[in-house]
Amino acid sequence: MSKIAVYPGSFDPITNGHLDIIKRTNRIFENVVVAVFCNPNKTPLFSMEERVEMLEEAVQGFENVEVDAFEGLLTNYARQKGAQVIVRGLRAVSDFETEFQMASMNNKLDSGVETIFMMTNNRYAYLSSSIVKEVVEFGGCVQGLVPDNVVAKLEERLGG
Ligand code: PNS
Repeated sequence: MSKIAVYPGSFDPITNGHLDIIKRTNRIFENVVVAVFCNPNKTPLFSMEERVEMLEEAVQGFENVEVDAFEGLLTNYARQKGAQVIVRGLRAVSDFETEFQMASMNNKLDSGVETIFMMTNNRYAYLSSSIVKEVVEFGGCVQGLVPDNVVAKLEERLGG
């Protein structure tokens, strides 16, 4: 039985949907590693350091949750962290195809690392980092959809 779970993502930035998955994963596993992917093919709104910092602030007070960053293959990273489980959140049917592809590829790369899915809380089923950024860019309010520290960062970066 694995005691360590990796919860990977871009987290550009973290939303309350992500936070909900982290909380629930933390109830099941002894240790949760929230792992921010450093994708050389994408230009994120927030730097790696900023994304890690926002996550660290958001999970302050959660026991046994570590925030880290990784490059390269997720399965290699999971091995390196001693984790046998990758956790991903599923919002709607539209997530399924990509998630199925990623989980299948990860299984092909390393069948010793299992992917498990957690249904996103209904409250956050429509939420994504991208939609949050768009709303802030056009002057909308995202209070309650992202942690408070992230609201301020988003407004600073995108607000008019
Ligand atoms: O939050 P996201 O953008 O949906 O997260 C996607 C992520 C980071 C989990 C995925 O892109 C990933 O695992 N990248 C690492 C590179 C890798 O292992 N690719 C091959 C299997 S998908």
